[in-house]
Amino acid sequence: MNRVQNKIALITGASRGIGAATARLLADEGALVILTDILDEVGAELASQIGSRAVYYHLDVSCEDHWQKVVGDIKSKYGRLDILFNNAGIIGFEERFGPQDPENASLASWHEIHNVNLDSVFLGCKYGIYLMKGHGGSIINMSSRSGLVGIPSSCAYASSKAAIRNHTKTVAIYCAQQKYNIRCNSLHPGAILTPLWDSMLSNHPEERSNAIAHISSGIPLGKMGEPMDVAYAVLYLGSDEAKYITGAELVLDGGILAGSTASPRR
Ligand SMILES: NC(=O)c1ccc[n+]([C@@H]2O[C@H](COP(=O)([O-])OP(=O)(O)OC[C@H]3O[C@@H](n4cnc5c(N)ncnc54)[C@H](O)[C@@H]3O)[C@@H](O)[C@H]2O)c1
Repeated sequence: MNRVQNKIALITGASRGIGAATARLLADEGALVILTDILDEVGAELASQIGSRAVYYHLDVSCEDHWQKVVGDIKSKYGRLDILFNNAGIIGFEERFGPQDPENASLASWHEIHNVNLDSVFLGCKYGIYLMKGHGGSIINMSSRSGLVGIPSSCAYASSKAAIRNHTKTVAIYCAQQKYNIRCNSLHPGAILTPLWDSMLSNHPEERSNAIAHISSGIPLGKMGEPMDVAYAVLYLGSDEAKYITGAELVLDGGILAGSTASPRR
């Protein structure tokens, strides 16, 4: 209990999925949580369910002026930020993006996906440092398993997540050099069942559960992850328990990257 007591935490993409689970957990553990998203009704409703330890702001993570507005409000209301979870992201499988393989993806879709997934993390880190400088803090950047391996069907997503992994290490070393006491780490989840998967799973209940079973069969632990599996990692990295961890990457994938079924057998 109270592992992040009285810390001020900002979460992007907090209206649903991993961001929403993390908002609830950090508030339960004593933080004041600033939820942000573009799904305003859902996010505001979630903040009101959480209660007095939560507030909601509209923040399109790809817009610098939105960051400036929210950061200005945080500075004047609270004077600081302790935890920043740069979580918002898109897979790019919505109809409008078109194919996402490296041969057929459009340059416009490549740019848009990098803008939402990667430029956002650059902006978040930049303004996070501004709010944390002087007293320290923890920045947690949402990369993916897809940032560590190639993904033929999702090239822009994989590239944006790989760049987040690298930028995390740059921010970590920069802040250490400057003696800011700001830590920066990246998360690399595998398959976590959230609304992000809706565009990849059928709406038909039987087809959906068959698709989930198929995905699960390729995961050593035999199942997809839950949003709380990731939320607990954010809680740890955001807390003072992780005070010696910076520039690290934490894989949460049920063992997918640990090895291959093609390994030699006796
Ligand atoms: N679910 C997985 O299997 C998985 C695996 C690895 C990494 N991730 C990453 O985790 C993060 C959260 O994913 P999720 O699974 O909870 O997905 P989700 O789609 O359920 O939630 C993403 C949230 O981000 C918000 N968002 C999208 N564009 C935004 C923008 N421009 N500005 C602000 N908010 C925006 C959405 O409104 C939504 O609330 C993403 O960065 C995703 O790439 C997810």
